[in-house]
Amino acid sequence: MKKRRTSDQQEAEKALVGAMAAEMIDTDMAIGLGTGSTVRHFAQALGQRIRTGLRVRVICTSRQSEMLAKQNDIPTTDFDRVPSLDLCVDGADEVSLDFDMIKGGGGALLYEKIVAAASSRRIYLADSTKLVGKLGQFPLPVEICRFGHQNVLSHLGRLARQCALRRRDGDAVITDAGNYIVDCQFGEIDQPASLHRRLCDIPGIVETGLFCDMIDMLITIKEDRPVVLTSPSEAFWAP
Ligand code: 5RP
Repeated sequence: MKKRRTSDQQEAEKALVGAMAAEMIDTDMAIGLGTGSTVRHFAQALGQRIRTGLRVRVICTSRQSEMLAKQNDIPTTDFDRVPSLDLCVDGADEVSLDFDMIKGGGGALLYEKIVAAASSRRIYLADSTKLVGKLGQFPLPVEICRFGHQNVLSHLGRLARQCALRRRDGDAVITDAGNYIVDCQFGEIDQPASLHRRLCDIPGIVETGLFCDMIDMLITIKEDRPVVLTSPSEAFWAP
């Protein structure tokens, strides 16, 4: 069960995990910079280290993360100049006891997955509210092509308990890659990898927010302190 936290406590936890991740960065690393409010804390702490001499370059996973880099004096690069990354640092919407994740609450799941796949190591940051037994309380974001989206929506509608095109101020949200996002309720997800494959078989589905077998290091909070976990066998939270 998710731990109850006030939003101030949750923000404090995000700051702790973000600061710890920034301490793990070595000079001259090429890093993937994730998206979201937890990554914002990482970017702030990384910016402080850069101002005192650390040299790094980042590839951003969204326009929002480009802004974060700019605000914190973090030099950016791209895949033309840096074909692979030493590591990526990103947040999560849910992390299960098996170390699978739901991501995409911020709508950047496609670029986040591309950047994660191009990284030798992947660090994910999760405050204690993100830790779950099984995935599925957080609606699964699925990125779909705009062309023919009506058919994909009805297909998803048959598979999921509920699904809805993500909207902001009444308009459908368009991702940085020019696609739509559908938020899907599947209930408890027993087999995330097979659900991911099943969804990706549907023409028009570009990517899902299921990130399976991608965590090399999880920085989270245990008894109010940041901790580093590297394997599901170290997961300490209750189902
Ligand atoms: C964006 C993401 C974020 O990493 C995820 O939504 C977590 O966000 P936050 O750190 O704001 O809780 O996947 O697409």
